[in-house]
Amino acid sequence: MTNEPTRTDSAPLLRVEGLVKHFPIKKGLLQRQVGAVKAVDGIDFEVRRGETLGVVGESGCGKSTMGRLITRLLEPSGGKVEFDGTDITHLSTGGMRPLRRDIQMIFQDPYGSLNPRHTIGSIVSAPFRLQGVEPEGGLKKEVQGLLERVGLSPEHYNRYPHEFSGGQRQRIGIARALALKPRLVVADEPVSALDVSIQAQVVNLLDDLQDELGLTYVIIAHDLSVIRHVSDRIAVMYLGKIVELADRTSLYEAPMHPYTTALMSAVPVPDPRRRGAKSERILLKGDVPSPIAPPSGCRFHTRCWKATQVCTVQEPPLLELAPGRRVACHHPENAPDQVPGDTALASAGEAIEIVPATKASNVEATETGAGEAAASGAVAGAVASAAVEPAVKVPSPAKAPAGDVTDPAAGRETVAGAEADAGADSLSGAGTDSVAGPGTGREAAGDDGPSEGGPAKGA
Ligand SMILES: Nc1ncnc2c1ncn2[C@@H]1O[C@H](COP(=O)(O)OP(=O)(O)OP(=O)(O)O)[C@@H](O)[C@H]1O
Ligand code: SF4
Ligand SMILES: [Mg+2]
Repeated sequence: MTNEPTRTDSAPLLRVEGLVKHFPIKKGLLQRQVGAVKAVDGIDFEVRRGETLGVVGESGCGKSTMGRLITRLLEPSGGKVEFDGTDITHLSTGGMRPLRRDIQMIFQDPYGSLNPRHTIGSIVSAPFRLQGVEPEGGLKKEVQGLLERVGLSPEHYNRYPHEFSGGQRQRIGIARALALKPRLVVADEPVSALDVSIQAQVVNLLDDLQDELGLTYVIIAHDLSVIRHVSDRIAVMYLGKIVELADRTSLYEAPMHPYTTALMSAVPVPDPRRRGAKSERILLKGDVPSPIAPPSGCRFHTRCWKATQVCTVQEPPLLELAPGRRVACHHPENAPDQVPGDTALASAGEAIEIVPATKASNVEATETGAGEAAASGAVAGAVASAAVEPAVKVPSPAKAPAGDVTDPAAGRETVAGAEADAGADSLSGAGTDSVAGPGTGREAAGDDGPSEGGPAKGA
C-alpha cells in the first residue's frame, strides 16, 4: 500500500454532513430565480478508509451530483464535506489543488472524457504536469508503468484515443485517475457504457487496484449486480436523499426501507440452490416525482405501499435502526415500526404490483421492453453484467401480468428469494425528464478538474 493514512485508521476518510445542491431555475430577461432543482437535498454519510461505498438509485436521484460535490467539481449549496479531517466544502480552486492528488474521479463516458487530439501518453501524464510532479525515473517510464498496470501496453503511449475500444479507453481513464496515487476515487457509472463482458474486466481491474494501492472508492452505479460485486457498504438514494445505508449483505438480504425492498426484489439470486424458489417482484407503479417540487414528508410516500398519514407530513430522519444500518422510514421492514397504528393512506395499496418472478420471466421470453418499464416508472431492468452475475434477461414489467398476489405484504418475505431468472438488475425511472435540460452537473464551480478534464472535454 502506497498511501499512508495521515489520521487514525478509525476516522473516516470522507465525512459528509447535510450536503445540499440546489440548481437554480431562472426565467425571463432578468433571469430571476423561479425555483430550484433539489438534486441533493441534505445527505449524511461517511466513507471509511479502504472501503468501497456503492451508491444506487434511479436515474435523476442525484448520484452524479453527489459525486461531483464530494470531489468538489461542484460547489455545494449547503452542508459540509470533510476529507481526512479537513473541511473542503468551499475551498477555492487554489485551495483544492494539492488535494486533487488525493481525490480523483472516473467518469462514465470513456469516449467523451479523453481529449481526442492528445496522445495517451499526454493524457495520462497530464496530472503530473498539472501538479508539477516529476516522477522518479522520468515521466514517460511512469506513465508506461501505469498503462501496464491497467492492462494496456507501454507501446500505447503514442497512440490516440480513437484507436482504442470502449473498455481500453476506460482503462486509460483509470490510469489517469490513478496517476498521482489518489486516496479517494469516485467512479461515476464506470462500466455502464461498456459491453457486459468488458464490464466484468473493468470491475475486476478496479478491485485489483484497490487491493494493490489501498484505494478508497465511492462507486456510483445503477446496476445492482455491479454494486453488489464491488461494494462493502451501500447507500440507496431517492430524490436527493439517502434512504438507506447498510453493509452489502444486510441490504441485499434484509432491506429495511420499502424503496430498497422494491429494488432488491428485482435482483437475481446468484446461489443456484435457491433458484426456483417461489419469489415475487415488487413493481412500483407511480412516476418518480420531480426534484423541483418533491413530495412533502417522506419523498417516497407517493409510491410507497406502506405509507400512512404521518409519512405525508413528517420527513423520516435517517436513523440507525440496527448496528451499522441507517434507514429513513416511519414503517421500516425487518425492524420495529416507528409510528405504530398510524392510519394507512388510501392510495398505499395501489402503489405497487406484485409480480411472480416466474411470470415476469415468462413475459420476458416473448417481449422486450426495458423502455416501457422506464416509461412506467417501474423499478426494472437493463442488462446485468454477465461476469459479475449470471446474465439475465430483461423483463417487461409494464406488461407483466399483475394481480396474482393480492397481498402486497407478501413481497416482503420473498425479496431475498428472487430467482436468477427474475431478470431486472438495475434501475430505470423517468425522473430526469421532468427537469428541463440540465445536463450533468457542469456548473461552473470555479475548479479545475480532478485530472485532465470532465466528460465534456473533447467530446
Ligand atoms: N447542472 C445542472 N443544472 C440543473 N439541474 C441539474 C444539473 N445537473 C443535474 N441536474 C438535475 O439534478 C437531478 C439529479 O441529477 P444527477 O445527474 O445527479 O442524477 P443521477 O442520479 O446521476 O442520474 P443518472 O442515473 O441518470 O445519471 C436531476 O433532476 C438532474 O436533471
Ligand atoms: S412507510 Fe412512510 S416513511 Fe417509510 S418509505 Fe413508506 S412513505 Fe416513506
Ligand atoms: Mg448520473
